[in-house]
Amino acid sequence: MAFIRNAWYAACWSADIRAGEMFHRTLLNEQIVFYRKKDGSVAALLDRCPHRFVPLHLGTLQGDDIECGYHGLRFDCSGRCVKNPHGDGRIPQAIHVRSYPVHERHDLVWVWMGEWPADPARIPDYRLIDAKSDYQVVTGGYLHICANYLLMADNLLDLSHLTYLHDGLLGSRDQVSSNQLVREEDGKIICRRWTPKSSVPKIFDLLYRRDQQPVAMWTEIQWSAPSYFWFDGGVHAPERQERDDHGWWYGQHILTPETDRTTHYFFAAALPLSTQLNESEKARYAEMRRFAFLEQDKVMLDAQQAALGNADFWSMKPTLLSVDAAPVRMRRVVEHLLRTEQTEPQTSDRT
Ligand code: FES
Ligand SMILES: [Fe+2]
Repeated sequence: MAFIRNAWYAACWSADIRAGEMFHRTLLNEQIVFYRKKDGSVAALLDRCPHRFVPLHLGTLQGDDIECGYHGLRFDCSGRCVKNPHGDGRIPQAIHVRSYPVHERHDLVWVWMGEWPADPARIPDYRLIDAKSDYQVVTGGYLHICANYLLMADNLLDLSHLTYLHDGLLGSRDQVSSNQLVREEDGKIICRRWTPKSSVPKIFDLLYRRDQQPVAMWTEIQWSAPSYFWFDGGVHAPERQERDDHGWWYGQHILTPETDRTTHYFFAAALPLSTQLNESEKARYAEMRRFAFLEQDKVMLDAQQAALGNADFWSMKPTLLSVDAAPVRMRRVVEHLLRTEQTEPQTSDRT
């Protein structure tokens, strides 16, 4: 399967890469090994020794270099072979390991998987999730989804699933016939749904009044290529015209394809400071989100991929409903970007 390559992809949370240790993960079907150099910055190399193709993470870190665990070839952080312990020690000319541009931002390690110059300005702006933002931040969520990233993207862009899959928790059946508006703005696809009066889902009751009284509720999700999402959702009293100073949150959702059929899913949330939550309530809020994503979304997504097998999505002739407006537009943009990447000349900044 083809993936959009000229993009920054979230590889892991910064805390996943500890000094003196190697961390390995597959992104876009490529196995990559990460480690921190002595100056604290992150290096990323293809996790495959060019000699006999064993994973480099089975070797050892030697300062800023990796020594292959099988026969001891040593590579620096640019992938250059700097030592051959065998024979006369000559380093074969063509030997090289691919290295990847890496940038740390918003507590995540971002990897540039493409050929064009890796410009950090193209990393999506999630500054509200940063520890120093003016919000209460619940960070660090990660899930491994056994489904193609576009199926998970469909899920995030289709907020109607809150009314069934997350009924009572994140959404309510009362919202099935919500008003829905899909628009495109600055390359983003935005889907907004709102209901003037609905029963209150548990997670919003915890954040708002805790009286289980009906509320007005809105949910909005923004997508930008290849797979960055921003959620804005909450409730307020039906008689109010706009959001209160609490009862809502912003959500960061990021997908990185692992393989054709599996996905890395990163999520975090930013609540306004006026949200009154003690420690155990904060834990309940996090637990409700974990339950929704792990026990509801993931279960459905994994089963969906298993049912599809290796079939191409469109060849299955999926039924299209009004709630599919945003996901379908997203898939069309992705297909367009893939065609563009395949036809445009590439300039390489790799050595
Ligand atoms: S496989 Fe790495 S040095 Fe032989
Ligand atoms: Fe969901």
